[in-house]
Amino acid sequence: MKRVPVGSESFAVQDEGRGAPVLLVHGFPLDHTMWAAQVAALSPRHRVIAPDLRGFGASVVTSGTVTMARMADDLAALLDALGVSEPVTYVGFSMGGYVGWPFLRSQRRRVARLVLCDTRAVADTAEAAKGRLAMADKVEAEGAGVAAEAMLGKLLAPGRAERDPDLARRVRDVILKTDPRGIAAAQRGMAERTDARADLPLLGLPTLVIVGEHDAISTRGEMSALAAEVPGARLVEVPGAGHTTPMEDPAAVNAALLDFLAAAR
Ligand code: MLT
Repeated sequence: MKRVPVGSESFAVQDEGRGAPVLLVHGFPLDHTMWAAQVAALSPRHRVIAPDLRGFGASVVTSGTVTMARMADDLAALLDALGVSEPVTYVGFSMGGYVGWPFLRSQRRRVARLVLCDTRAVADTAEAAKGRLAMADKVEAEGAGVAAEAMLGKLLAPGRAERDPDLARRVRDVILKTDPRGIAAAQRGMAERTDARADLPLLGLPTLVIVGEHDAISTRGEMSALAAEVPGARLVEVPGAGHTTPMEDPAAVNAALLDFLAAAR
């Protein structure tokens, strides 16, 4: 892990390998460790950059609201600090995909290829946004355990936590280690995010869409509709997996990523 100073703040980043850069952007309320299997599989051929977003892992924590646009600006500043000038393959998992939309709007020249993994282009409904704000307040008052309780069942496929207690423990441990202020600020930021569906037909990028068969947050139906809006996008469904496909079925996700990256070379 590197600690990368950006202005007066500091971000934690795993930066491995050499070659065309791949930026792995984690979901909520996780950190870069969700990508461990992808870093191992891709780094023999690529420079793989897996940061902790603001408020997560070992990166700077900001209270209040952290918007997806602010996280996107952080990523651009991090790439600058790491000396990455070549366009990246942007791989956004769930919240990492939400951060991708403002990143693509402000940093389009920095993106060569796009992977949308178990993510959404729609904004929250008013009810979902209200639920996020309530959860943010509760996490600030009571701690990260509130988020672990609320999220674990939605992150993994039905029955997976019981069948694979090690995986469930890994996911829970990451959430419990996360600063409650970071969780709350990202929840408020996600509640504010705007609808990105109008961007989809205009992306003009080789795009891979990955979804778990049993994803309860960004469902197969929603993700196949999203893929259909992106000209030329390839859709890969991961059988048996829930939302967190990179952790639930790393072999399938790695194969899809390696295939996509090889085709794009
Ligand atoms: C994520 O995995 O990043 C979150 O589940 C996204 C969300 O809460 O919408």
